[in-house]
Amino acid sequence: MTPPLLSIRDLRTYFYTEAGVARSVDGVSFDIGAGETLGIVGESGCGKSVTALSILRLIQPPGRIESGSRIEFEGRDIVTLGDKEIRDIRGNRISMIFQEPMSALNPVFTVGDQVAEVARVHAGMSKQQAWDRAVEMLALTGIPAAEERAKQYPHQLSGGMRQRVLIAMALMMKPALIIADEPTTALDVARDRDVRWRSSGRGGGRRALCQTAPSIYRGPHPLDAAHRPRSGEAQRHSRHGAGSDRLAERMPVS
Ligand SMILES: Nc1ncnc2c1ncn2[C@@H]1O[C@H](COP(=O)(O)OP(=O)(O)OP(=O)(O)O)[C@@H](O)[C@H]1O
Ligand SMILES: [Mg+2]
Repeated sequence: MTPPLLSIRDLRTYFYTEAGVARSVDGVSFDIGAGETLGIVGESGCGKSVTALSILRLIQPPGRIESGSRIEFEGRDIVTLGDKEIRDIRGNRISMIFQEPMSALNPVFTVGDQVAEVARVHAGMSKQQAWDRAVEMLALTGIPAAEERAKQYPHQLSGGMRQRVLIAMALMMKPALIIADEPTTALDVARDRDVRWRSSGRGGGRRALCQTAPSIYRGPHPLDAAHRPRSGEAQRHSRHGAGSDRLAERMPVS
């Protein structure tokens, strides 16, 4: 049997603050296979973003991934990987669409330049090719008048558009896994198989998607129509008492 693309076992990420230890993620386990979609659902503060950031080892002090936690990606243990290797994975194999897009974009460059830069670095395109591809990708994510918008700076765009810019960048990298942390308006794009397929290009392979969503979407399914990945599974994070978060349920989504 082929091992999953990403396998997380007993992930514990704690923050050592003056007020005490915040056990933000405490014993989370799940797998994502190649091409699968996984939804992580839970109330605000239950640890969805910290889980996502842990996968890319972007947790800053006073936060720490506790020893014994395992995050295995393509057979490598992210927790113990060297800095160069983890940077390589972040740039090439796993893309993250951050919950707060402003912090992930550089305010002094146009969004077109930032998307084009990814194309230049990761696909080795010329300046003009990269720009054309950036505009095409921005249009593909649903930004109207993409040619004009590409010449603007992050602060000139709406929050939803900024997230689309991050999605364009994420898709440009041909990652094996995209982690989308609560994308609000641009969600359809991130999960759209057609976009994923079209942007994958030659050798792009099947992409997996890990997507978080708030649990305010109640009803027959914790992921409502707007937040439901088309396939795969959802896992529900929930809080059982202070500081103890659990993935309590696992259910198919289709
Ligand atoms: N730098 C930090 N220092 C201390 N505690 C932190 C830090 N970052 C996150 N936490 C705590 O970890 C817990 C989980 O936070 P996280 O951001 O993962 O929640 P979330 O599930 O993504 O919530 P939301 O749906 O609001 O985005 C929260 O209680 C938060 O206060
Ligand atoms: Mg969050």
